[in-house]
Amino acid sequence: MTCPYHNEADNSNYRAMEEGIHTDFNDDMSYGDYLCLEQILSAQKPLSDQHDEMLFITIHQASELWLKLAGHELTAAIANIHQGDFGHAFKVISRVKQIFNQLTQSWQILSTLTPVDYLKFRDALGHSSGFQSYGYRKLEFLLGNKNASLLEVHQSNNAIYQELKQVLEAPSLYDEVIRLLADKGMAIDNAVLARDFSQPYQKNDSVLAAWVAIYKDADQHFELYELAEKLIDIEDAFQQWRFKHMYTVQRIIGNKMGTGGSSGVSFLKKALDISFFPELFDVRTHL
Ligand code: HEM
Repeated sequence: MTCPYHNEADNSNYRAMEEGIHTDFNDDMSYGDYLCLEQILSAQKPLSDQHDEMLFITIHQASELWLKLAGHELTAAIANIHQGDFGHAFKVISRVKQIFNQLTQSWQILSTLTPVDYLKFRDALGHSSGFQSYGYRKLEFLLGNKNASLLEVHQSNNAIYQELKQVLEAPSLYDEVIRLLADKGMAIDNAVLARDFSQPYQKNDSVLAAWVAIYKDADQHFELYELAEKLIDIEDAFQQWRFKHMYTVQRIIGNKMGTGGSSGVSFLKKALDISFFPELFDVRTHL
């Protein structure tokens, strides 16, 4: 008697090829061609003979790709807000949040690197450090954490320096949102609207008053209210990354200096106090 739960035909533990499957890529673009996999997968070049250096390189390279995508998306979000296109801005901002969640997850893999394993190849890194990540710096600038002195480490590469300088000097996501508040009839101080965008953003009472009005009558200003909460989502996700980075670093190097020359963990902790959208947190106190 045949078992009703078992199909004899499926007993091979083998999947046969199908006739329609393409196998000749001599003149056709393959998956690897499209994704430039030869370049990407030959770019892991450990400088030591230590097994764990491959993890260290892979996690940095994968993070850089996600940072690049987040920058691409945020640039679009800034343009969307500039054009008053909430629908597309919301979609893109939600994606940026998920990219950051993904990046934060990657600390779980890195925390399998013990302090002893890391010390075996740390000297090979010289003075290189994530502090010099231009993908990350671009994101900080796009979101609104402007700091001109951070351009200095990029002086040796003019193309990167110029790109970062341009982002530093342009309105950030929050600058565009504040301009939108003014366009929607909120009374925003001229000093904020005409500010030097390359300077750190300073909290402002007129911006706070606008958010208080929006939150107190969310139904009336639903799109702006939803936008504000989406910005909070991004800052939340970004801060989780900052925190997990700092904590993983503490776990691996304790209070040693960073390879980039900073005091290490205490320097990273100071970044946790920087907010992209400060009035959006203050507004909660006023409700
Ligand atoms: C063993 C792992 C790691 C250690 C020990 C470490 C350590 C540090 C330290 C000490 C700094 C401060 C600057 C310095 O003096 O070097 C720093 C900055 C930074 N690292 Fe890491 N890091 C690690 C992994 C990563 C990974 C996987 C990324 C992903 C891209 C990353 C991205 C960054 C960024 C973007 C900064 C600048 C942060 C800021 O400006 O606040 N790090 N890291």
